[in-house]
Amino acid sequence: MAQILGKVADVLINIAIDGPSGSGKSTLAKLLAKRLCYLYMDTGALYRAVGLYMLRHFPDGWSEEILTDALENIQLSLEFSSGNQTVFLNGEDVTHDLRTQEVAMAASQVSAVPRVRIFLLDLQRNMARENNLIMDGRDIGTVVLPDAQVKIFLTASPEVRAQRRVAELNAKGIACDFDTVLTEILQRDRNDSTRMAAPLKKAEDAVLFDNSACDLDQTVERALAIIRSRLP
Ligand code: DC
Repeated sequence: MAQILGKVADVLINIAIDGPSGSGKSTLAKLLAKRLCYLYMDTGALYRAVGLYMLRHFPDGWSEEILTDALENIQLSLEFSSGNQTVFLNGEDVTHDLRTQEVAMAASQVSAVPRVRIFLLDLQRNMARENNLIMDGRDIGTVVLPDAQVKIFLTASPEVRAQRRVAELNAKGIACDFDTVLTEILQRDRNDSTRMAAPLKKAEDAVLFDNSACDLDQTVERALAIIRSRLP
C-alpha cells in the first residue's frame, strides 16, 4: 500500500469517510490512518465540543440565537500525537469529556445549525490542506472536502450498529439496554439526515460500503481495496 501511495507522494491525499452513528467510521479511519501513515481527523469531536460547551453553560437548554451568540466565546484547537486527536475547548483538554451519550445528543442538536457548521469549516479544511489525511464525519465528501480523492460512505443496519455500541459500552463496564441504544441511534439518524444544513448523505462519487456482515479486519481490507482502486 505504501508503494501505491508513493506514486502520488507529490499530491496531498484526502480520504473522506462519512456515514451514520455507529457504523464504525472512527475505528476504521484510525486503523487506515495508521496503515497509511496519514493524519486522522475526527470531525464529530468538534461538534461534540460545541455541544459540551452548551451543556456546561446552558444546562436548561438553548435557542438557536443563544447558540450562535455563544460561538463567539468558543475557541477550539486540535493536537495530534501518535494517531490520537486531542481537543482543546478554550484551552482545556476536553477529549475524554466528549464521549458521553449526553454530549452526543447535544452534538447532534448543535450540528443542525448552519452557523455552527460554518464556524467549524475552516478548521477542518485547513487540516486537509496541509496533510495527507483521513477525515470522518457526515458531510466530509459532500461539503467539507468535495474534492477528496477517495470517498467512502460507511453504513450498517441500525440493529447491528446498536449491537456494536452495546458491546463497546459493556466492554467499558457500562451497563446499557439494547432497545434504549437502538432508539437513540434511530433518533440521531433522523436528526442527522433530515436537517436542512449539510444532512448526512452519500456523495455521488462516494463508494457505498455496508459493513453489517463484516468484522473489523474485513472492513479494513475492503476499505483498503476501495482506496487502492481510487488512487492513481
Ligand atoms: O461522529 P459523532 O458521533 O462523534 O458525531 C457527533 C454528532 O455530530 C452527530 O450527531 C452528527 C454530528 N456531525 C456532523 O453533523 N457532521 C460531521 N462532520 C461530524 C459529526
